[in-house]
Amino acid sequence: MKAVGSSIAVLPGDGIGPEVVAAALRILDRVAQRGGLSVDRETGLIGGAAIEEAGHPFPPATEDLVHQADAVLLGAVGGPQWANSQVTPEQGLLSLRSSLGLFANIRPFEVFPGLEQASPLRRPPRRGVIVRELLGGLYFGTPRGRSSRSDAVVEAIDTARYTVPEIERIARIGFEMAERQGVPLVSVDKANVLETSKLWRETVTTMGEEFPRVPLIHRYVDAAAMEMVIAPERYQVVIAENLFGDILSDLAGGLVGSLGVMGSATVRQWEPGPGLYEPIHGSAPDIAGRGVSNPLGAIWSVGMMMEWSFGLSDAAETIYGAVRRTVADGVLTPDLGGTATTEDVTESVLNHLG
Ligand code: NAD
Ligand code: IPM
Ligand code: MN
Repeated sequence: MKAVGSSIAVLPGDGIGPEVVAAALRILDRVAQRGGLSVDRETGLIGGAAIEEAGHPFPPATEDLVHQADAVLLGAVGGPQWANSQVTPEQGLLSLRSSLGLFANIRPFEVFPGLEQASPLRRPPRRGVIVRELLGGLYFGTPRGRSSRSDAVVEAIDTARYTVPEIERIARIGFEMAERQGVPLVSVDKANVLETSKLWRETVTTMGEEFPRVPLIHRYVDAAAMEMVIAPERYQVVIAENLFGDILSDLAGGLVGSLGVMGSATVRQWEPGPGLYEPIHGSAPDIAGRGVSNPLGAIWSVGMMMEWSFGLSDAAETIYGAVRRTVADGVLTPDLGGTATTEDVTESVLNHLG
């Protein structure tokens, strides 16, 4: 197992990114120490912080660093000060993802015991996972950009593009996950309008023949957004293209009470291997620097790193359990209606780790 002597690239980024990453690293260190793992970690620049210090949101030194690492832990990027820059922090994040070639973004959601009142997820199972395609669609398609037409009207273009192999590889992960859990697979698209979605639905349907035990449900994204609010228990394993997965995973953050508790793993395989781990939330400029950001999404992401990059499911479960018990104790940051600080929550998770 590749756990002893693992190396992790740490990219704190902007806004609350450094706060939640610092908390997550304390958990990582404790778990590593308890499990006798030696984890080398090296910090790099990404996003707005990298624009300021290196003139680029994903500098070559960061690219080298992440390619040498076994796993990458990222905070968040972006902020109002760069919203209109020519090169944005968000472009750095997209370059990081595509440079690593990791396409399957796994975003679990779960209503923690104690937070049932904050959630429309009233019936069990109170959890699910969005498997978001991360390297295609409108985020990366070309042509894209802005131009002035001959009549001087300014226009902007984005291109949605998917190939059959790109759809197959993400669909396969979704089917396998649904099969392991013994639940239906919900595939989200807009096949009543979009060409990419028609291809998506066709390809997913064909792949379904390889998974006869997995009931396959297709939903248009608009209807899925509605149904995830009124009957979220039907959405246990969801596959979606890049933009739809982005939107529905924030919706899932709303379902469980806060964006701040959701972590993610981005991988390209089932076996332990390279991965990128990030909470799904952004840099939250509205609360940055006040010490009240919720670190649970970043901490959960460290659990996912144990599971997906190092094959250490026990260590992962220990972290998830400590997160659940922290919430059950009512140690909650303001996004969950509490008055705890980032530090209080981190200490509580550490205590529950033992
Ligand atoms: P956001 O996720 O930063 O914040 C949305 C809301 O959720 C805010 O009210 C914020 O305070 C709250 N929130 C988010 N995370 C929280 C946490 N851990 N604890 C407590 N509250 C939390 O989204 P936004 O405001 O739309 O975007 C802000 C910036 O972040 C933008 O520049 C955006 O592009 C960027 N962004 C980056 C990532 C990423 O790096 N992966 C993800 C999403 C948005
Ligand atoms: C996320 C974010 C990013 C995305 C942005 C900041 C590029 O919203 O990780 O969910 O859209 O993928
Ligand atoms: Mn998002």
